[in-house]
Amino acid sequence: MLGRWSILCVAVVLLHVSSARDLRTVTEPKIPQTCTVLKATSGDETTTIQNALDKCAKGKAVELSSGTFSSGPLTIPSGVSLLVNSGATLKAIPNPALYDEGKKTCGTLDNYGVGCKPFITIRGATGSGIYGKGTIDGQGGETMTGKSESWWKLAASAKSKNNFQNNPKLIQVNDSSDITLYQITLKNSPFYHVSTSKTYGLTVWGITIDTPATARNTDGVDPMGSQNVTIANCKIATGDDNVAIKAMDAPSAHISVLNNHFGTGHGMSIGSEVTYGASDVTVSGLTLSGTTNGLRIKSNTFRGGLVTGVTYTNVCMINVKHPIFLDMKYGKVTGKLTPTFRNISFNNIKVLTKGDFTFDGLSDSNPVEVTLKDVHINKKSKWIATNAKITGTYEEDATGSSCGNAGNQ
Ligand SMILES: *[C@@H]1O[C@H](CO)[C@@H](O)[C@H](O)[C@H]1NC(C)=O
Ligand SMILES: *[C@@H]1O[C@H](CO)[C@@H](O)[C@H](O)[C@H]1NC(C)=O
Ligand SMILES: *[C@@H]1O[C@H](CO)[C@@H](O)[C@H](O)[C@H]1NC(C)=O
Repeated sequence: MLGRWSILCVAVVLLHVSSARDLRTVTEPKIPQTCTVLKATSGDETTTIQNALDKCAKGKAVELSSGTFSSGPLTIPSGVSLLVNSGATLKAIPNPALYDEGKKTCGTLDNYGVGCKPFITIRGATGSGIYGKGTIDGQGGETMTGKSESWWKLAASAKSKNNFQNNPKLIQVNDSSDITLYQITLKNSPFYHVSTSKTYGLTVWGITIDTPATARNTDGVDPMGSQNVTIANCKIATGDDNVAIKAMDAPSAHISVLNNHFGTGHGMSIGSEVTYGASDVTVSGLTLSGTTNGLRIKSNTFRGGLVTGVTYTNVCMINVKHPIFLDMKYGKVTGKLTPTFRNISFNNIKVLTKGDFTFDGLSDSNPVEVTLKDVHINKKSKWIATNAKITGTYEEDATGSSCGNAGNQ
């Protein structure tokens, strides 16, 4: 008994000391008790699942026990959770009409891209969550009902036509607190997988995101204007930013990204929508393999924003094209705002394969300000620093074909 307690205490203390950016003390979530157990049938189960969620007592979870459940959009009420057991899959029916916001634009291209409801919405909630070792499948690659293409094909044609796809996000959390995502596997989202807005207290722990690299705009986890966020022990492979911290209508702050592994994707990003600022972010114990970017901060004079107090510690990368990319001139848009990237530190970073390292501030008087300590890169790499104030240096001595557990202490 004593042994177990002391191990538990050490674990809690370590998490607290090495990652005091989320101001909460975060420990491994516990699955809530079940209020109802649902069994899969072969039909559309939207009403059954939604009714069960609406009737569930606060503090409890609706359990999907096994088999494949097909559903349209669902809302998880305050205090209630959804538990998808191992062996159960919840599939988003690929019928745009089910997600339409009222203008009949969901599943089409236009100049806005806001025509669809998310598959799962959590709004104005406290203490809700999604738990379990099962899978939520957004079916982004399936042909849409009444159309001849999939959500992902639509997203690809938006790029070539220079407009926006109206596709549903998989999980949207707004104006909420104390929200948990635990163990669940999310795959094939038609659009972002997890997106939050003005949410204070978010724990994403031990989840897997597994979506093809070719699926456009399928960001993994995007905390936007949110605070006290922990993303820990997750595996994220997708077709856009693995994690992107944004601040479009409120500041993002106190965010811990701990002991994660990123497969394909666009990397660990802050921006580009950081107008309200992003601060006090710790990324610790991260391995990236095969992402296009590694550690990236992006903004421009259109978005502006102060990004400060960002620490990257114990990061290992392999086959990453742009391992560090700090860019104040992102995209082609310009405006009248002034982005500021200051007090950004890199500690114990190993990049085993060659890549381009870019530090690009706005001007001499508005440089990116970074500190390097124990930064090891491959000697075939390119180091491009323009308008950058860099304290410390790097060594060109990194080699190897596997990060192993290097990023994870
Ligand atoms: C973040 O968590 C700390 C510690 O629990 C709390 O004092 C603070 O109010 C929280 N911040 C927000 C914005 O909720
Ligand atoms: C959630 O917040 C986002 C970002 O502010 C907004 O675009 C979206 O409409 C909101 N959705 C809901 C359901 O409130
Ligand atoms: C720099 O950021 C760290 C957090 O990473 C913070 O503790 C420190 O106070 C900041 N320093 C300055 C000068 O802002």
